[in-house]
Amino acid sequence: MEVESVILGYFSPTGTTKAVVQGIARGLNHDSVEMLDITRPDARKEPLRTSENELLIIGVPVYMGRVPALLNEWLHAISARNTPAVCVVVYGNRVYDDALIELKDILTGCGCKPIAGATYIGEHSFSTDETPTAGGRPDADDLHHAESFGRMIREKLAAIPSADRIADLEVPGCRPYRGDSRLWTVDFIAVSDECIQCGICAEGCPVGAIDPEESTRVDTTTCITCCACIKNCPQHARTMKPGPVKDASVRLHTLYSERKEPEYFL
Ligand SMILES: Cc1cc2nc3c(=O)[nH]c(=O)nc-3n(C[C@H](O)[C@H](O)[C@H](O)COP(=O)(O)O)c2cc1C
Ligand code: SF4
Ligand code: SF4
Repeated sequence: MEVESVILGYFSPTGTTKAVVQGIARGLNHDSVEMLDITRPDARKEPLRTSENELLIIGVPVYMGRVPALLNEWLHAISARNTPAVCVVVYGNRVYDDALIELKDILTGCGCKPIAGATYIGEHSFSTDETPTAGGRPDADDLHHAESFGRMIREKLAAIPSADRIADLEVPGCRPYRGDSRLWTVDFIAVSDECIQCGICAEGCPVGAIDPEESTRVDTTTCITCCACIKNCPQHARTMKPGPVKDASVRLHTLYSERKEPEYFL
């Protein structure tokens, strides 16, 4: 089957998921690709409607082995009709547990027909210069893999006569999903005197947890500990305070230094 366009939807506070899905899109090499960045809160106000003339690619990071809970509302509100879909999860070299099967189930429930799935590795949100985990990933090899995966999706799509002939896609994971997708409520960000109140951190926060007038003021009940504000500060003014997130950064660096590789399911 042929699709008229590709919708590239992604949530990506620190940019690794975005880099991966863009790599997949390069491999797909379709003339019409619509980027749908749902990282910022405003972008998640509009529900997505798709049809079988479109290919939907959704990329999300793995949070606690699951699809980030804050995306549930937007993802479940997708209205699709036999839309072929590609499920992509990006994790920080620890585990992806049930995130891929959860994403596949959500998209199926919205009327999509998953045709492919993949897991990629991105620099861990809690990675720092002192305690790096999967630092710099996705790297050139990962992006090369993503482009090949994109080409494989194109070939699979071309070989399918119509969306109602898409067979059920098997991906790893358990139901009921393991673990708890609730995140910590923690005051973990220190802001130094280097801060110039430029507002970049507040602008990029995916849940609007930072006061745009006063960057030290963070609503810890909405913060999802994504670390985007720390990684994006041009002044390097934001760091992790001693506490559970910093401890997790050290633990991840110690326990998950062995390189994991991307996997795909077609
Ligand atoms: C709250 C939270 C939970 C996370 N849980 C996991 C996890 O269970 N396994 C894992 O390998 N990485 C985990 N990560 C790391 C992210 O999945 C990883 O860094 C991803 O590349 C971030 O995507 P982004 O750059 O698109 O924001 C977690 C990150 C955060 C912020
Ligand atoms: S991005 Fe950095 S310098 Fe700018 S307001 Fe935030 S903490 Fe301050
Ligand atoms: S305040 Fe929290 S949610 Fe917002 S960017 Fe910083 S770490 Fe992420």
